[in-house]
Amino acid sequence: MSKIILTGDRPTGKLHIGHYVGSLRRRVALQNSGEFEKIFIMIADAQALTDNADNPEKIRQNIIEVALDYLSAGLDPAKSTILIQSCIPELTELSFYYMNLVTVSRLQRNPTVKAEIQMRNFETSIPVGFFTYPISQAADITAFKATTVPVGEDQLPMIEQTREIVRKFNDVYGGGEGVLVEPDALLPTESAARRLPGTDGGAKMSKSLGNCIYLSDTPADVKTKVMSMFTDPDHIKITDPGKIEGNTVFTYLDAFSKPEHFAEFLPDYANLDELKAHYKRGGLGDVKVKKFLLAVLEDTLAPIRARRAEYQKDIAGVYDILKKGSELARETAAKTLDDVKAAMKINYFSDAALIQSHVDRYKG
Ligand code: TRP
Repeated sequence: MSKIILTGDRPTGKLHIGHYVGSLRRRVALQNSGEFEKIFIMIADAQALTDNADNPEKIRQNIIEVALDYLSAGLDPAKSTILIQSCIPELTELSFYYMNLVTVSRLQRNPTVKAEIQMRNFETSIPVGFFTYPISQAADITAFKATTVPVGEDQLPMIEQTREIVRKFNDVYGGGEGVLVEPDALLPTESAARRLPGTDGGAKMSKSLGNCIYLSDTPADVKTKVMSMFTDPDHIKITDPGKIEGNTVFTYLDAFSKPEHFAEFLPDYANLDELKAHYKRGGLGDVKVKKFLLAVLEDTLAPIRARRAEYQKDIAGVYDILKKGSELARETAAKTLDDVKAAMKINYFSDAALIQSHVDRYKG
């Protein structure tokens, strides 16, 4: 069976380096691996609206930002189809039919949705659309017959829900091989990439906490953020022994540094282990490590920034990429919806045998 990728992001803000190590970098590698027949990258605006219904302007403003971040990170519209979720109405229709295959109590058990409800203080006023977004996400994935969904660990419950819907659908409607495909999640391999902490050492980068380094940050922004980054609060004098665990600068180095960075930027050390050992022993100051991290980050960010500058000169062209991608994606989703409706026996006009049987029923 050919391998197909679908994944995406809610356009609620610009993408940051946590998105980069957690997903974007991998997507670009997968795109360039040549192993996948098709790759769909979705800007999930409809899902973003499920908890931003009162703020559509935020979503509207961020679609172009996410698109620019994708393109500048190296997603290539010639190899990956970038689409906007709301431009594919077939997804909504699929969701409506899938809703019959999922129980309320099953949705209530989704740990990611549970955590999100708590975080947003929805409690008793959960929007139905938000509550059911795992079903809509199953539509996103199955509409493209995705075999492979590269996501972070927090999205595993959505993939599991999708697999259950596919099995239930096949069970109830048959539909034959391949009407719906059971997808597999593809998780980040490096532990450092699973969840990049904020620059303040907080568990997660988040816009509202102001602890993000954005892909679109200027070199000056990045420098300020790195130089004021959380390290080991007990590492006061250079001679003090330092801690690596929970030290954001080292967590970032785990995620971003490559062996060749040492030869290039910090030749006194052969590799990250040597640098860590010196820090633990004492005698290595934070500023020196931060300067190294800055060089390492800039090695990744400079080419991204340069590509962004190019695309920013042609915003209309970026909108055109999104329009073309959405149109192309819609063709695939429409085909799946046709298959789904046929399996569900709601394809009345294309079923000549059905019409004939009713003609026969009322024949004199
Ligand atoms: N829920 C994902 C997120 O919050 C975004 C998303 C929407 C998605 N549809 C998807 C991810 C389908 C993977 C597959 O980031």
